[in-house]
Amino acid sequence: MTGIFYGSTTGNTEAAAQEIASALGVSSDQVYNVGEVGADTVAQFDTLILGSSTWGCGDLQDDWYDFLDQLKAQDLSGKRIALFGCGDSDGYADTFCGALAQIYDALADSGATFVGQVDAAGIAATDTEACRDGKFVGLPIDDADPEGNAARMAAWVESVKA
Ligand SMILES: Cc1cc2nc3c(=O)[nH]c(=O)nc-3n(C[C@H](O)[C@H](O)[C@H](O)COP(=O)(O)O)c2cc1C
Repeated sequence: MTGIFYGSTTGNTEAAAQEIASALGVSSDQVYNVGEVGADTVAQFDTLILGSSTWGCGDLQDDWYDFLDQLKAQDLSGKRIALFGCGDSDGYADTFCGALAQIYDALADSGATFVGQVDAAGIAATDTEACRDGKFVGLPIDDADPEGNAARMAAWVESVKA
């Protein structure tokens, strides 16, 4: 079973979470705002799709700080985790979608397996923490590239389903 957990300040990552849910056939009951639930909610799911927009300079969306602290204390071993989040390659190339890297690094030793890495080809900003060895650690959704986003999201959804 899949749960989708997002943090979103202006609604972009929330909208993406809903789009991903509908593309994956995940019920809207299983889409959670991290500002409104405890991290123990993840216990019932074997696949976690975690979304954060990026603020400051490559920082987490505000609601993620407490949630990520709590999440680190959960037993995530054996779970699959896929990351996504909105950012802006135009205004913030150096820290583009840095929140994905923050979550990835925080959960690297959790025993979970990360899925849904995205090839950097065609993405405008790759000199950012979220991009490692030619791949983004999750799905970057770029304010500056609406067309590219649609194609990348469709491919990413398929890779997460697989
Ligand atoms: C003050 C400020 C700082 C931002 N910092 C970053 C950043 O470091 N990296 C990035 O990719 N986007 C950055 N953004 C862009 C937002 O992440 C982007 O607009 C995103 O779509 C917001 O998603 P949300 O509505 O889900 O919060 C920043 C935006 C603002 C206004």
